[in-house]
Amino acid sequence: MEKIVSLCKCRGFIFPGSEIYGGLSNSWDYGPLGVELKNNIKQWWWKKFVQTRSDMVGIDAALIMNPKVWEASGHLKEFSDPLVECKKCHHRFRADELTEKKCPDCKGELAEAKQFNLMFKTFIGPSDDGENVAYFRPETAQAMFVDFKNVLDSSRLKLPFGIAQIGKAFRNEITLGNFIFRTREFEQMEIEYFFAPPDNEHDWQRIFEEWRAQMHSWFKDLGLAPEHIHELEVAPEKLAHYSKRTIDFEYDFPFGKSELYGLAYRTDFDLKNHYSEPPYREEGIAAVYPHCIEPTWGVDRSVLAVLCEAYAEESERVVLKLPAPLAPYKAAVFPLLKNKPELVVRAREIFEGLQKEMMVAWDERGNIGKRYFAQDEIGTPYCITVDFETLQDNAVTVRDRDTMTQERIQIANLSEFLRDKLV
Ligand code: GAP
Repeated sequence: MEKIVSLCKCRGFIFPGSEIYGGLSNSWDYGPLGVELKNNIKQWWWKKFVQTRSDMVGIDAALIMNPKVWEASGHLKEFSDPLVECKKCHHRFRADELTEKKCPDCKGELAEAKQFNLMFKTFIGPSDDGENVAYFRPETAQAMFVDFKNVLDSSRLKLPFGIAQIGKAFRNEITLGNFIFRTREFEQMEIEYFFAPPDNEHDWQRIFEEWRAQMHSWFKDLGLAPEHIHELEVAPEKLAHYSKRTIDFEYDFPFGKSELYGLAYRTDFDLKNHYSEPPYREEGIAAVYPHCIEPTWGVDRSVLAVLCEAYAEESERVVLKLPAPLAPYKAAVFPLLKNKPELVVRAREIFEGLQKEMMVAWDERGNIGKRYFAQDEIGTPYCITVDFETLQDNAVTVRDRDTMTQERIQIANLSEFLRDKLV
C-alpha cells in the first residue's frame, strides 16, 4: 500500500488534500493522471451500462436535496453507526468495530455507545438555524427514486428499465482510512433497475442474478483477477434498512479483504415512501409501485482496486499493467534525440496528430530506456519513437508496455493501430 500511495503522489495520480495547510484528514485530490484514470473508469461504465443498452437512461441530480427526501427514505432515522467515546482520551470509535471493551488507544473506559447519523449537515441560506438544515446526499440513489416520475413522463420507457447516475456522496464516517478506500467525500456509480412487482421470489431473483453476472463482467473489464473477488451474502440482521437481500463484492486489497461494490434488492421500499400514489402506469394495467434491484459501485474504490491489481515490480522496473482503455495516456511519443530538430519536428507532428484523438504524453528527456520506464510506471501501453530511419521510411518504433517488444509501424497506420488496441 505504501508503495502505491507513494507512486500516486510522485507521479500525479492522487495527492493529500489541502497539503500546504497541513492536509485535512482523509481528504485526497486526484492529480493530472488520477483524473484521467478516474474519468476513464466512469466513461467506460457509462458506455457499458447506459450508452449501449436501450433499457437504461442517466440523470445527474443535485447534491443537496430537499431534507424531506431523507425523512421519507429513512436515512434521518436509520443511517447511523454506533459511536463510542473514550472517557479518558476522548477518541471516538465505531462500537461494532471494537474487539475489546476498552479504548484501543489508551485502554481507558468507554462511554455508552450512541447512534451517530452519518449524514453531513449544512444550512441553506444566510441563517444557520434548525429550519434551514439540509444534508449532502449520502448516496446518489435517492435521486433516481425522487426523479422517477419525471424520467418516466419525459421518456417512453417501459418496465423493466434502469436509471443510472454517477456523482459525489458524502458521509461523516467515524472511522476512515486506507488511502482512498474510506473517505467522507467519495463518488458512486449507481443503478436503480425497476421492474414490475414480482409475482414470486423467482421473478426478482432472476433480475438479481442478471446484475450479479454484470458485476462480474465489470470486474473482468477492470482487469481484476477473479480469485481476488469474493462475494459476501449480508446476514439478515446486518442488512440496510431498505434491503431484502444484499451481496457485498469484496476485493483483496493489500490491507485485507474489504467491500468494493454492492448489489441489493430494495423492493418497492423507496418508491412507496416517496409517492403517495403508484407512480407507474401502463395502458390497460393497474398502476403499480415498481420494485428495484440496485447494483452500486464506488468510483474511488474502483480506482484503488485497479491500481492495486495493476501494480507490478519486475526485475528492473515498476509497471502499472492497466487495461489499455483505462490508462491515463494511451501512448507516449519520443524523438530519439532531443538535439536533432528534424527528429523533434517529425515527432511533434505525430504527437499533435494523435492528441486530437486520445491522451498522449511527450517526453524528450534522458535516454530512451529511462523514458520507457517512466511511462511503464504510469501505465502507458505504447511508446512511439521517431528515429533517423523514420525520416526515410515514414515508420516509427512502437514498444509494448507489457511484452516490451518493439515493432515498426507506418505513421499513416499509427492511429488505427492504437485505436484497435484501445477499445
Ligand atoms: N445506494 C446504496 C449504497 O450507497 P453502500 O454500500 O453504502 O450502498 C455503495 O455504498 C458503495 O459506495 C460501496 O460499495 C463503496 O464502493 C462506496 N462507498 C461507500 N462508503 C464509502 C466511503 N466512505 N468512501 C469511499 N467509498 C465508499
